[in-house]
Amino acid sequence: MSMPDFAWSKTDAQAAAAGPRARFAAAVRAGLSRRPQRTLPPQYFYDDLGSALFEAITHTPEYGLGRADERLLRLHGGEVGARLRLPLAIAELGSGNGRKTRQLLAAMDGRRAARYCPIDGSAAALARCREAVAGLAGAVVPIEAGYLEGLQTAAAARREAETMLVLFLGGSIGNLDRRAAVEMLAEMRRLLRAGDWLLLGVDLERRPERLLAAYDDAAGVTAAFNLNLLARINRELGGRIPLRAFSHVARYHAGERRVEMHLEAREAVEVVVEAAGVHDRLQAGETIWTESSYKYNREEVRGMAEAAGFACEAQWLDGEWPFAETLLRAE
Ligand code: AVI
Repeated sequence: MSMPDFAWSKTDAQAAAAGPRARFAAAVRAGLSRRPQRTLPPQYFYDDLGSALFEAITHTPEYGLGRADERLLRLHGGEVGARLRLPLAIAELGSGNGRKTRQLLAAMDGRRAARYCPIDGSAAALARCREAVAGLAGAVVPIEAGYLEGLQTAAAARREAETMLVLFLGGSIGNLDRRAAVEMLAEMRRLLRAGDWLLLGVDLERRPERLLAAYDDAAGVTAAFNLNLLARINRELGGRIPLRAFSHVARYHAGERRVEMHLEAREAVEVVVEAAGVHDRLQAGETIWTESSYKYNREEVRGMAEAAGFACEAQWLDGEWPFAETLLRAE
């Protein structure tokens, strides 16, 4: 079964040319008509409300991933900075509110980037990110775009003498299936020059009970994050999807080593989204698959980076939460 599409996958070319709303509508139509498993693409989680809910998830006790990432950046940012030749341009895929990046830039201490380009789909998150990194980099140039599209823009704007460091933190690569993850890294490599860098944060395997708790916190923040995808369809595409007819479900797939998030119909329910041409009925118990989070081991991280044209320069693991920060050099 293929997993939900992502922002950087090739979608309907006509819809793409017609603009973001048409692209969203085409993705919703394609996902909801998929059988046997309906899907919705996870990149649409991150509107302004979804980004705020994701930020709230990182404060839940069950979801230690973001805190592990920050700890590693704070502890090892100096070692990252020491390896980078100046002048330096940094581009970050999915910067969010810049909290993590602030830790890194502060820890890089003196290895100040001439330019920092946060790339994100949420204008509100980019505005907060700009504030978070104020004074820690030269020019801050936010790019509101999908990951690879944004990286292309950042790479095109780099000066000849600049070394580039790409940040792909927070375990976001885990939201791609394993093959797409290597393809994504290879695409990134194509946009870089030999001697450039990638700092990659990857969430690692652990006991399924602990994983499931991280994606189904007791306060219901992750449930709200998942349901907001339907709410966004209602807001932006004039949908009439009754949110209360759906429950958030997290499942662990042992064979694929991934956590899946679904929205499950509690009862038979009509789903109408005029702008997407959707007039459909879900049976009780049917689900819409909204996200996968693949988990890795540290050797796999190195292996997939090498397959994409990077060499592993250093890897740091967190002591409290299985998470790896890997510094890769473009070969
Ligand atoms: C952004 N990404 C790495 C998060 C994850 O852990 O897969 C998104 C998320 N979904 C539910 N909780 C967090």
